[in-house]
Amino acid sequence: MLDKKLEAAFNDQINKELYSEYLYLGMKAIFADMNLPGFVNWFDVQVQEERAHAMGMFDYVHERNAQVTLEAIAKPEIKGSTPLEIFEQVLEHEEYVTSRINALMDVAEEVRDRAALSFLDWYVKEQVEEEANVGGVLATLKLIGEDKKALLLLDKDLATRTFVAPVIG
Ligand code: FEO
Repeated sequence: MLDKKLEAAFNDQINKELYSEYLYLGMKAIFADMNLPGFVNWFDVQVQEERAHAMGMFDYVHERNAQVTLEAIAKPEIKGSTPLEIFEQVLEHEEYVTSRINALMDVAEEVRDRAALSFLDWYVKEQVEEEANVGGVLATLKLIGEDKKALLLLDKDLATRTFVAPVIG
């Protein structure tokens, strides 16, 4: 079983991962409107990853004989309209998710749940990768500036990203 406070914190994070999925789905739609199929693919993989992050916790809560409680998923607020502005928001969002994973670890520490801490280690490492991956695209977009040919080359590169179902925990 899980401590009730930790159970609530897991449920909150499941909601945040599902919101991330929804946010990236919204961004995918914007890139589809821009006719940039490589970016669309990048966000498609991101959407699948976020679902996997949510389901990893969903399954774990059940494995611990605790209860999953689903809440409403907020409407995604997409602030920018250019690839650069959107990726700035993605990085900001991933940094926020990292802070929430750390807060979840804090609760697991507080209730001295060593198994949950060990499970959450995977998410800590994943957030390092997430931020590095997004930061890489953002850095390239900054270099590209207004160069449309370079943007199309990046789009081709992002078309090669594939989803690999993660083994979580
Ligand atoms: Fe589930 Fe992108 O963090």
